[in-house]
Amino acid sequence: MAVLVTGGAGFIGSHTCVELLNAGREIAVIDNFVNSSPKACDRVRKITGKDFPLEECSICDEKALDSVFTKYPIEAVIHFAGLKAVGESCVKPLEYYDNNIGGTLSLLKAMRAHGVKTIVFSSSATVYGDKNQVPFNEKMETGKTTNPYGTTKLFIEQILEDVSKADREWSVSLLRYFNPIGAHESGLIGEAPNGIPNNLMPYISQVAVGKLKEVGVFGDDYPTPDGTGVRDYIHVVDLAKGHLAALDRALKVKGTEIYNLGTGKGVSVLELIHAFEEATGVKIPYRIKARRAGDIAASYADVSKAEKVLGWKAEKNIVDACRDSWNWQTHNPNGYND
Ligand code: UD1
Repeated sequence: MAVLVTGGAGFIGSHTCVELLNAGREIAVIDNFVNSSPKACDRVRKITGKDFPLEECSICDEKALDSVFTKYPIEAVIHFAGLKAVGESCVKPLEYYDNNIGGTLSLLKAMRAHGVKTIVFSSSATVYGDKNQVPFNEKMETGKTTNPYGTTKLFIEQILEDVSKADREWSVSLLRYFNPIGAHESGLIGEAPNGIPNNLMPYISQVAVGKLKEVGVFGDDYPTPDGTGVRDYIHVVDLAKGHLAALDRALKVKGTEIYNLGTGKGVSVLELIHAFEEATGVKIPYRIKARRAGDIAASYADVSKAEKVLGWKAEKNIVDACRDSWNWQTHNPNGYND
């Protein structure tokens, strides 16, 4: 039996494929490559020495999904595929709702038609919105998301919960990621954003290689220890391993379960910049700028549930993540286009 990985050529998807293959699981990957490259899957094969099928397929294409489920003996789905740029989602809300929510509905219909009822979903800490106090725990009320991207995650969580309520055979695992950073230690796979990065870590690494001039620090007047935004940065390999733990449990337990995947530690923008300098010896010029619309002061996880129930916790720290991002960035300054 195989695990279907949607969006398996993407940043978190490709790292999760490595961990699944290393754990001896069969996988099949679908991706439409709008924001990723098939080369990432070649690199996954290189790292693991294992082969797997990769199909170019959009989650919005019901016919293509049907043939994927017919072709492969799928027992569970890890669902990463989706558009993820916060700013772009404010400009193109319909495209985000259509692709992320519409695509998930098509995927769920194909799963139901083929009797596959186990899904691990790539959600986000953004569902905690801007009204909760840190650290965020899974029992807190969700909502008040600050952009359409975040709202798609919120709505998909609700849809999945409703599906598992209506049919008790379903097993749904909602994984709320905090801020994934880093890269595989081989330097063969990593984050490869199109154009100028929106997120802090890829921005820092592009400044480090000289592609960008300086990091703009969005606000130094937040109610945080140094005034800059605080986030819970988790190494992508730790995050990938969290999916394996969640999948193992989802294959045994029915119903919906929710887990935060983070480190439990808050790190400020300036601390991340300094960790990068410490890990690489490269000086990172930065300039304080105005706050970015939609940002919150602090976001970090209460990770006790994942640790207790899944037996999983993050093992790497931000210096490890900075070193691995740097290794990836220096070997692939243009991502998979090199
Ligand atoms: C955002 C999304 C989150 C998504 C994540 C990864 C929201 C509110 N946040 O998280 O859902 O999962 O991206 O795609 O929807 N910063 C700078 N300069 C920069 C870039 C960022 O100072 O050039 C600061 C930000 O103000 C923030 C921190 O760095 O304090 C992290 O920002 P970023 O990496 O963009 O992630 P989030 O906004 O936390």
